Amino acid sequence: MSLPAVASYLRLELTLLDQTDDLLMAELWAWGTLGVEQTVGENGSRNVVAYFSDPLPTRLPDVGNPLWSHLGAELVRVELIEDEDWLAEYRRQARPVPVGEGFLIDPREDAEQLPAAGSRRLLRLPARSAFGTGSHESTRLAVGLLETIPVAGRRVLDVGTGSGILAFAAFCSGAEYVVGIDSDTVASLLAGQNGRLNDLSVHLLAGTLDSLRRGPLFDVALVNILPKRIRSDLPRLVEVLAPGAEAVFSGILAVEKEEVAADLAAVGFRHRSESRDRDWVAFHLELAAK
Ligand SMILES: C[S@@+](CC[C@H](N)C(=O)[O-])C[C@H]1O[C@@H](n2cnc3c(N)ncnc32)[C@H](O)[C@@H]1O
Repeated sequence: MSLPAVASYLRLELTLLDQTDDLLMAELWAWGTLGVEQTVGENGSRNVVAYFSDPLPTRLPDVGNPLWSHLGAELVRVELIEDEDWLAEYRRQARPVPVGEGFLIDPREDAEQLPAAGSRRLLRLPARSAFGTGSHESTRLAVGLLETIPVAGRRVLDVGTGSGILAFAAFCSGAEYVVGIDSDTVASLLAGQNGRLNDLSVHLLAGTLDSLRRGPLFDVALVNILPKRIRSDLPRLVEVLAPGAEAVFSGILAVEKEEVAADLAAVGFRHRSESRDRDWVAFHLELAAK
């Protein structure tokens, strides 16, 4: 089963018959409207537009139902609005990009032919709402540092897996097993689809680090998340890492590098190396023995 790329909505256009709209508003919210806007028509009429998810709640009266006039309004029109898949055009125009030394990422969906990857490992990651098709500096920096870490035979945790790109790169590099986790459920589901598309058996979970049991479960951590979104989870991350575990932290703006380095040192990470691409920085760190 693939996730729908778009959702659809219904737009109800109403004209107010009375000066007051209190009753109408109360009913629209009770029927589960997603939002309401008020406009004034060219002829000075006061109009209300209400949005509902498709299908409409069954309790909602049809056009012409006298209940509308009791509520002080006339239902003029119901329209189906197809949400747009904003990334469809990007997927059509995108081209495969080399990432790190060893990967070629193909963000297209229905390419007639797979690209020639040469000595690189091809990863097909169709651009969708989950972050991570290799176009962003933070992903490329993370893959670059991951390639310097011996992951073969080690247990890898990818926090904020997005499309799954780092988890897949670690798996392809011979990790014993890889767990990718993301607080965005849709990202985890899309990463799961990507895993199947590429025939890679990575474990993908929706949730935060709190969903993992405690204990030294991992030898390598990959974290490409804005520092302010992962800062409060750092002690939890340390709890699931083995002593001496290595970590890649990316998604760090160069201007906040010192502050982030201090936060990471405070929970026990030692600096090994770093790399930079324009405004972005990534760290390779090692966890001090506990
Ligand atoms: C910048 S994207 C990285 C995606 C991919 N790993 C990459 O390198 O391209 C960050 C991802 O982290 C997720 N995220 C943010 N805060 C999180 C948290 N505290 N725990 C787990 N996932 C988180 C977001 O939903 C998003 O998918």
